[in-house]
Order: sequence, then C-alpha cells, then structure tokens
Amino acid sequence: MKESPAVTENVVWHQHKVDKTQRQQQNGHQSAILWFTGLSGSGKSTIADALEQSLHQRGIKTYLLDGDNVRHGLCGDLGFSDNDRQENIRRVGEVAKLMSDAGQITLSAFISPFRKERQDVRDLVADGEFIEVFVDTPFEVCAKRDPKGLYAKALRGEIKNFTGIDSDYEAPQNPQIHLHTDQQSVEQSVEKITTYLANKGIING
Ligand code: ADX
Repeated sequence: MKESPAVTENVVWHQHKVDKTQRQQQNGHQSAILWFTGLSGSGKSTIADALEQSLHQRGIKTYLLDGDNVRHGLCGDLGFSDNDRQENIRRVGEVAKLMSDAGQITLSAFISPFRKERQDVRDLVADGEFIEVFVDTPFEVCAKRDPKGLYAKALRGEIKNFTGIDSDYEAPQNPQIHLHTDQQSVEQSVEKITTYLANKGIING
C-alpha cells in the first residue's frame, strides 16, 4: 500500500479507535474492491447492479460506484480527455479505498481505459483486495447494443475522444476475473464473481 503523493509534513494521520478489522468483523466479511473495466456498453453496470442485489440480499455491505452516476457529482467537472479520465479514476480509487477501510465490498464500474491508473488503484490497497473484473465485450457488440445511442453519435463524429473510436482502451493483461458477456448470461457472470469471493474467503460460501 502506498501513501497519497501530496501528503504534507504538517498533516498527521489520526489513528481512530474503531478500525477496519473491527468493522469487517462486525460485517462478517472482508473488504474488497471489485473493479469492473470494459468498453462503454460492455455490461459493467448491468453485472455490477445484479451482483450488488445478490450480495445485498445475503446481508453483505456493498456500495456501487458507477461512472455515469459519479460523473454527475464528485467528477462532474471532468470530461473525457486522457487527463480527465486519469483524474476520474484517481478520485474514484481514493473513494474505493475509503469504502474498503469502512469494511465494505465496493463495486466500481468505470471504463477505466488505462492500465497505469488501474494499477495505481491496486497499489492503494492491501494485496488481494483489488479484484480486476474484465468485462470483455468486443467493440462490435458494444457498438451494436449502443444502449445510450453514443456509438452512433461518436461514429458520426458528434462525440470526440470516444473509447474504442478515437480514444484508447488498454485491456487488462491478467485480470482476476474475465467475463465474456457475449457468451455468458448476467446470472452466470454474477455466479462466477460470487464463487471467486467465496474461494478467496472474502465472503462466506
Ligand atoms: S472513464 O474512461 O473515465 O472511466 P467513465 O466510466 O467514467 O469513463 O464514463 C463512461 C460513460 O460516459 C460511458 O458509459 C458513456 O455513457 C459516457 N460517455 C460520454 N462521452 C464519452 C466518451 N467520449 N467516451 C466514453 N464514454 C463516454
């Protein structure tokens, strides 16, 4: 785990009495960050939403950070240049780290197109806590689904810096969980992630 880079010498960490371990014990499960990454329209939010419902029903403390929603508030000042996407992921990574400290299982659904920023978030938390979930849906499938009509606009040149068209997507090389939404149902994806969490002892089986 690494410190935020801009900590000044006059800011001292306060060690509070109720800590992460106590919160996790009370919750009856470990903390984790399920980091969904993939193209727009790949199914990140849909799978994260279904997974959160399933975990919530089992009494597991969850929170879903969703790109489309976070960009209405915390990251409402950011656009889609490479720099803004980096800052978007940096902020969300810090929020996810706080959620982990709060003892939660965080589900994060952002395109998060660059390897460097995803690695930076991984480095913020303990080993094994950051779980990269690659929602691997081919560009053609996402563009055909086009649930928000954004691919059509981007292909007409009406949206700039669109991921997969004129902005890069760097696919994970070694994701902890690899989903193929064109071959698996949402339920199968949820089952795969739940099994992973149970096998790692993060939740009870
Ligand atoms: S990220 O690249 O910074 O991780 P994020 O997940 O927050 O992106 O936001 C992506 C969502 O914003 C997409 O699902 C889509 O609905 C919308 N969007 C608007 N403009 C763009 C664009 N230029 N590229 C990608 N997504 C866009």
